[in-house]
Amino acid sequence: MSTQAVPTGYEVLRNPRRNKGTAFTEAERRALGIEGLLPTLPSNLTLQVARIHTELDLLDNDLQRYLVLSDTQSRNETLFYAVIMADPARFMPIVYTPTVGEACQKFDRIFRAARGMYLPISARGRLREILCNWPQKDVRFIVVTDGERILGLGDQGINGMGIPIGKLALYTACAGVPPQYCLPITLDVGTNNPALTEDPLYLGLRQARVRGDDYAAFVDEFVQAVQVLYPKSCIQWEDFANINAIPILERYRDKVCTYNDDVQGTAGVALAGMYGALRITGQKLTDQRFLFLGAGSAATGIAELISLAMTLEGIDITQARSRNALFDINGLLVRSRTDLADFQRPFAIDHAPISKFVDAVKALRPTGIIGVSTVPKLFNQQVIEAMSEINERPIIFPYSNPTSRSECTADEAYRWSDGRAVFASGSPFPPVEFGGRTFVPGQGNNVYIFPAMGMAIFATEAKRVTDEMFIVAARALAEQVTEEDLKVGLIYPPQSRILNTSLHVATRIAEWIFEKDLARVPRPADIAAHIRSCAYRPVYPE
Ligand code: NAI
Repeated sequence: MSTQAVPTGYEVLRNPRRNKGTAFTEAERRALGIEGLLPTLPSNLTLQVARIHTELDLLDNDLQRYLVLSDTQSRNETLFYAVIMADPARFMPIVYTPTVGEACQKFDRIFRAARGMYLPISARGRLREILCNWPQKDVRFIVVTDGERILGLGDQGINGMGIPIGKLALYTACAGVPPQYCLPITLDVGTNNPALTEDPLYLGLRQARVRGDDYAAFVDEFVQAVQVLYPKSCIQWEDFANINAIPILERYRDKVCTYNDDVQGTAGVALAGMYGALRITGQKLTDQRFLFLGAGSAATGIAELISLAMTLEGIDITQARSRNALFDINGLLVRSRTDLADFQRPFAIDHAPISKFVDAVKALRPTGIIGVSTVPKLFNQQVIEAMSEINERPIIFPYSNPTSRSECTADEAYRWSDGRAVFASGSPFPPVEFGGRTFVPGQGNNVYIFPAMGMAIFATEAKRVTDEMFIVAARALAEQVTEEDLKVGLIYPPQSRILNTSLHVATRIAEWIFEKDLARVPRPADIAAHIRSCAYRPVYPE
């Protein structure tokens, strides 16, 4: 005999996964014994969505809207997703960046219902036991952070939890990864942010960040516990500081299903921008020479993925890397430099030193420049004019975030190139009127890649996540840019179409996963149909 108690109607009303709120019909209210607990007349999902929209319109700022949406998610998950999936372009900036940044900074002030799991390093040796407290036994997708490098805001300690929560909401809203399989996690290893440790309202461990072997052992225990409890799950590392992000990825990428969106997703979305740009210029990737302004983790990550993509078109990796030159605060990365880190060396070229970026442009004659320097205005008029002299359609990608750090504005790129620039940026810019035309700048937002990657992994139960999967995703994303988009200069599809775009990208990634024998489910006859059938839809269960 089952001992599991049937939830009472009152409990159903308080279960966000089963609650329909005012949309419970009269018959359901009778059957559940909740008559009288709701306003008289039954509503429906469409009206409930309209009610939330009306409420959001009355509010003064996006943090308030974030809180209303977060409360909705805690009360009625279907309604939450119905609201954001009805207008993803409007709600993504509220559920995720930039609003989530402010939500993280104020996390210990606005904390409401618990969501996700907090694993403190003080519980070393007991992680498996604690993870068992999560009510869902079939977890497939984990986004985990240790809060050290939250967006551009630095160390936020456990206040960074807003990021895994918000990111998983986008996995669901933008690509249909079912929310019941998702688990946001924060590893609490302390914080080096004194404003937090000295704040009585802070909710995490008040100690300096643990480093070295103890940190590695803690992460290792976490990965192992996840493998035992949720063997089909993928772990996505999020907003770790570079000193930990790269070693963690290297350590686990060949052992378990895992990836780092800041490293791999970012490079994927930049590569997709290249493929989109090539649809405008009509050239091949191997014909390109890129010059990066910046030689940090973003630059080297993007340059390496572009190089790998070039090798798939037939040139060797050394040749490919030499087509991706980097320029940093000390000038062009050339072999004679003695200040280069190991991860930069592969991109150092045989060339005389050059200290001015515009001189590097003139000497190397790149087809595209990519700004990942965090310094605004470095793509100045001279630079863009030089690019426009060398190229009929110069590729100009200022990717530094936020908008105030962008290497140039969309308006500057179009104006100084006489309307010939193929432009995309890291942060959004409004449309530009120039020469009687309207240009719509594209934004290289990771959201074009990571939800689709998650969906493909979920639907195939992939064993591993490889760099090639990000190249496949980038190509698939560029395929989704229509001729109409290209005519106005858009090289990424509009965010309003994100769900369909993601399902297409997920299908292409899944095809590759099956082809490479990395799936743990049998290959379905129709992969696109399989992906669609796995995708979550915000509708009430009967
Ligand atoms: P980082 O700090 O690792 O690297 C910055 C690089 O810029 C360093 O190599 C530094 O030497 C160079 N630099 C600084 N000042 C310079 C100057 N005056 N002239 C020439 N070079 C200079 O930073 P990271 O993590 O590589 O990120 C860089 C930027 O890229 C950030 O703003 C980030 O938001 C943005 N980004 C945007 C993405 C997107 O839109 N999808 C993806 C990834 C990064």
